[in-house]
Amino acid sequence: MGEVLSAPVLAPEQIEPREISDYDLVGFGSGIFRMSFHPQLREFVGALPLQRSVSAFTFSTSGLPEPTLLGYHRSLERQLHTKGVAVVDRFSCRAFDTYLPFRVVGGIRKGRPDAADLTAARTFAERLRSEVGSSS
Ligand SMILES: Cc1cc2nc3c(=O)[nH]c(=O)nc-3n(C[C@H](O)[C@H](O)[C@H](O)COP(=O)(O)O)c2cc1C
Repeated sequence: MGEVLSAPVLAPEQIEPREISDYDLVGFGSGIFRMSFHPQLREFVGALPLQRSVSAFTFSTSGLPEPTLLGYHRSLERQLHTKGVAVVDRFSCRAFDTYLPFRVVGGIRKGRPDAADLTAARTFAERLRSEVGSSS
């Protein structure tokens, strides 16, 4: 995604929350831990000042697909919305998961993300690039 969008890929500690407004489009993503994004990412979004013109997408890896009613992305997207950030799309794919109870069977989704997941991520970013690029 970073390659396709010619975007820097940074951990939360590598950028100040106020610097987000320098970008037109920002992706917020991590693995899913106990039904939500990594606490460090949620903390970062919590520290964002109110934004005026930033669009965002969310992305995650998780052992299981998002449950329909208790979506993994929902709380972070709500948090972004309260910060004035417009979430335009989301991406997720499966990943090796050794969280209990899967540890006892040696984990699930070994080998994921795989080449097909990376192709899907690239295609997602290409679509975003054409959509966001054409609306600005
Ligand atoms: C403590 C812990 C909690 C997790 N909770 C979930 C979960 O609620 N749902 C899910 O589908 N996967 C869950 N997973 C699996 C992770 O989302 C998956 O392994 C992800 O790829 C981890 O991201 P990372 O590879 O960047 O560390 C959990 C993993 C750990 C270690």
